[in-house]
Amino acid sequence: MTTNTIAIIGAGQAGASAILELRHHQYTGKIILIGDEAHLPYERPPLSKDVILKPDETKVEILSKQKLQELDVTVILNSKVKKLNREAHSVELESGEHIYYDKLLIATGASPRRLPMIDALGKHVYTLRNLEDAQALIQVLQPNRHVILIGGGVIGLELASSARAKGTKVTLIESGSTLMRRCVPNILSDFLLAQHRQAGVDIRLETQITHSRLEGERVVVQLNHQEELEADAIIYGIGVIPNTRLAFDAGLDIECAIKVNENCQTSDPDIYAAGDVATQLRENGEYLRVETWENANLQAGIFARHVMTIMPPKANPPWFWTDQLNFNIQCAGDMTAKDWKISEMDDLKNTSSFIAYGLKDDIVVAGITVNAAKKMRAIKKIITNKQSLASLTETAKS
Ligand code: FAD
Ligand code: APR
Repeated sequence: MTTNTIAIIGAGQAGASAILELRHHQYTGKIILIGDEAHLPYERPPLSKDVILKPDETKVEILSKQKLQELDVTVILNSKVKKLNREAHSVELESGEHIYYDKLLIATGASPRRLPMIDALGKHVYTLRNLEDAQALIQVLQPNRHVILIGGGVIGLELASSARAKGTKVTLIESGSTLMRRCVPNILSDFLLAQHRQAGVDIRLETQITHSRLEGERVVVQLNHQEELEADAIIYGIGVIPNTRLAFDAGLDIECAIKVNENCQTSDPDIYAAGDVATQLRENGEYLRVETWENANLQAGIFARHVMTIMPPKANPPWFWTDQLNFNIQCAGDMTAKDWKISEMDDLKNTSSFIAYGLKDDIVVAGITVNAAKKMRAIKKIITNKQSLASLTETAKS
C-alpha cells in the first residue's frame, strides 16, 4: 500500500522527531500533526531546570511555525483526539472532525500519576508535565517560601535543585529507601542524597503523607511518623502513567503501555507508537518502557524508517541525563547492573566529578558520568564493545 498520509497524535518530543525523520528520509506524502496543547512541539527537559531558573533566556520550541511550513506539515493544535477508527483508518477529534491516515503514529506521552488526597487540597498543589505547569512554578519557587516536594525521582530532585537555587526552603518526602530508584543504582542515589542534603534539601526517606489539610494560606501534612509539616505549597512528582486511552479503546495490545515490536508497530500494523506511551519488545523477549528524551527521538526514528522501508538505526546503549545542583549526570547502558566500580582516579567523597562503571561478570554494561560529559562517548563505545574493566585499566596504564 502506498503511504500517502501519515497522521501523528501528540505534538511532543516523539511527534516532532518523527516529522524531522520522515522528511529527512525523503518522505513526500502528507503529514498531519494533531496536538491537544496550545503550543507547537517543545522540549520538556528544560521545564524543571532553565525555564524556572532563567525564564527570559530559555527557548524550548523544537519546531517553529516557519520550519513546520517548510516541512509541509498540516498542524492541528488545541485538538484532542478522542477516538481511533481502525477500520476506516481515521481518527476523530473532539470537534467531531475525522482525519484519515494510511499510517498512524501514537505519540501521546504520559501524564503525572495523581495523588487524590493531595489534589483534594486544590489550592497550592502543583505537578509538572507541561509548559503551563512550569510557568506556574516560577511564581511558587521564591526566596523564603517553603515547599513540600513529594517524590524523590527525576522531577522531585530537579525541582529541589531549582528551588534551592532560588532560595526556596525544601522538604522532600520519598516513600522509598533511595532516591531516583526507578532509573539509577544505589551508588548514584547515595551520592545525590548527600549532595542534596548538603545543599539544604531536607530529605525524608521511607516517609509518606497520611493526612493533609489547608490552614488559611498554608498546607499542612501529617507524615507516617506522626510529625506535621506546614508549607506554602506542595509539588509532587510520583511517576507517570502512559496516555493509552485511545489505544485501549481501539483494542490495541496494551500492557501498562502500548505494546510495540522492534519496528515500533502496535498490534495493528498500520498503527505505530513511540515515546513514553510505548513499551517495546527487546532482544531478550521482554517488553520495556523507557521514559527519556533520547528514547522518544529514537523510537520516532525507528517508526519513520520502517514506514520508508529503510533499515533501523544501529542500536546504541540507552542514555539519559539529569541536571541537579551543580552536577550534569549522564547514564548509559543497563542501570540495573549490581556491581559498580568508581573509576580509579576518582574519590567519591571529595569530588564533584567522577565516572562509575556497571559490571556484569567484569564486562562493562553501564556507565555514569558526573560532570564528566566528555567521557560519555567513549563509555558508550566500551559498553557496545562489551569490554572488560580489566582491559580498560590496562589501556589506561599503557
Ligand atoms: P510528550 O513529550 O509528553 O508529548 C506527548 C504529547 O501528546 C503532549 O503534548 C500531550 O499533550 C499530547 N497528547 C496526549 N494525548 C493526546 C490526544 N488524545 N490528542 C492529542 N494530543 C495528545 N528526559 C531525559 O532524558 N532527561 C531529562 O533531563 C528529562 N527531563 C524532563 C523534565 C521534565 C519536567 C519532564 C516532564 C520530562 C523530562 N524528561 C527528561 C523526559 C522527556 O521529556 C520525555 O521522555 C519525552 O518528552 C517523551 O516524549 P513523548 O513524545 O513520548 O511525550
Ligand atoms: N510518597 C512519596 N514518594 C512517592 C510516592 C508517595 N506516595 N509514590 C511514589 N513516590 C516516589 C517513588 O518512590 C519515586 O522515587 O516518587 C518517585 C517518582 O520518581 P520517577 O519515577 O522518576 O517519576 P517523576 O520524578 O515523577 O518523573 C516522571 O518525568 O522527568 C520525567 O523522565 C522522567 O518520565 C519521568 C517523569
